[in-house]
Amino acid sequence: MAQEHREQWGSRTGFLLAAIGSAVGLGNIWRFPYIAYENGGGAFLVPYLVALLTAGIPLLIMEYAIGHRFRGSAPASFRRMSRPTEALGWWQVAISFVIAVYYAVIVAWGACYAWFSLTQAWGEDPDAFLFQDFLQVSEAPGAITGYVPGVLWPLVGVWIVVLVILVLGVRRGIEWANRIFIPLLGVLFAILVVQALFLDGAEVGLDALFAPDWSAITDGSVWVAAYGQIFFSLSVGFGIMITYSSYLRRRSDLTGSAMVAGFANSSFEILAGIGVFATLGFMAVASGVPVDEVATSGIGLAFVAFPQIISNLPFGAALFGVLFFVSLVIAGLTSLISIVQVVVSAVQDRLGMRRVPAALLVGGVTAAVSILLFPTNQGLYILDAADHFINQYGIVLAGLVSVVVVAWIVRRLPMLEAHAAKTSVVALTWWWRITLSVVTPIVLGFMMYDSLRAELASNYEDYPTWFLLTAGWGVAGAALVLGILISLLPWKNLPSATADPDDPEPGTAAAADDAERGR
Ligand code: ALA
Repeated sequence: MAQEHREQWGSRTGFLLAAIGSAVGLGNIWRFPYIAYENGGGAFLVPYLVALLTAGIPLLIMEYAIGHRFRGSAPASFRRMSRPTEALGWWQVAISFVIAVYYAVIVAWGACYAWFSLTQAWGEDPDAFLFQDFLQVSEAPGAITGYVPGVLWPLVGVWIVVLVILVLGVRRGIEWANRIFIPLLGVLFAILVVQALFLDGAEVGLDALFAPDWSAITDGSVWVAAYGQIFFSLSVGFGIMITYSSYLRRRSDLTGSAMVAGFANSSFEILAGIGVFATLGFMAVASGVPVDEVATSGIGLAFVAFPQIISNLPFGAALFGVLFFVSLVIAGLTSLISIVQVVVSAVQDRLGMRRVPAALLVGGVTAAVSILLFPTNQGLYILDAADHFINQYGIVLAGLVSVVVVAWIVRRLPMLEAHAAKTSVVALTWWWRITLSVVTPIVLGFMMYDSLRAELASNYEDYPTWFLLTAGWGVAGAALVLGILISLLPWKNLPSATADPDDPEPGTAAAADDAERGR
């Protein structure tokens, strides 16, 4: 099969919007506000910023440099860097596949709730509506015995949108989608936050969120929470940033881009904290309870607490509901596209396939698994277990292993640093190498130890052991084993990373020639 020239972003702005679109996701809207509130409020911003500067941005730069230097999907880039590390790339591809199949269903729920907001279809009891009427969740984890058409069709719709964007390609699909969606998300979310700030009790919520509890700074678990949030939120460890940066032109500012993407993501996160806690403050005051009784995160925040609040708003309830859920859908969709693209790009490189058949094949298989498993009466349980285990023992573990391998085993940090220096405005210094080779492995290693200890002490959410062994440990373990097995298969005809005559490696004679001719 003929291999196309590698696709490229139309511009640096296009790349940045796509990277921000990938980073800003459900984690920003429903995870950050609660994590910050639980871990010292205003004081949490200190470990959070330290985590951003010592792990988030350095890792982002490392992933950008790997993708940009080796110009391939995660497996191809790792393989070109050092043959045995290819398994790391396939592991990340498998992790992305797992996340994509369940992430899509949350986007579909969000789309349904945007519609439900118009009439407040959840009625008096949003909790019963979500679990019984809408998701039709069975009493306990078990065999799938029922299909839920109300979730099935919206999910099919989400997959059609994702497939169309991926089939259109990096520039005409992903870049354009993000050029439209990210500014739209910014505007919609800003209107939502302004509306939230005008609610009675908003200041009570903001006080609860930002009142600093300085004693938290000395608590190790607060630091672990800060690093965990930065890691998930910036989309590092999924292979996404390696994939996205592989479509950059050779002369692209890597360190500057990482800083812009990192700070934009954190700014959105803080904006989300303000919006969510102003709204929770309104709820607390209206029901005469302290904020801690209404504060929550995840599915409970978006699909139970927010519907309840929307029903109680004194004005503009439908508008507020639509703004919130449409924002959730857009944030989720742009992240979902980036997650599926990790798999599409790996299959393209591995099988030498063109973009359209690869997007249809990967999108089709991912959509089929997603549609078979999640619009069912077991969907929520499978989602909850898979999400917890693939985050802890997929993303975080793969991130830890890749940083240790790159820094200590194959020792490529100096080479990646030199590569970034050739193209970037802000030079990397010793801090980059120290944070990646020392700080990040220690913090992530401790996180891993801490969560394993909790895992082994009691079953996650008290789910039955057989269920956790399949939907939790089984899924996370299968991603790792599959990654290793695929990397052992022979890979013929992997084109060289620098073979593209239209876009030579900086520092080479061809690049100098290019520069002279003003290309
Ligand atoms: N970074 C994405 C999120 O926050 C995955 O949801």
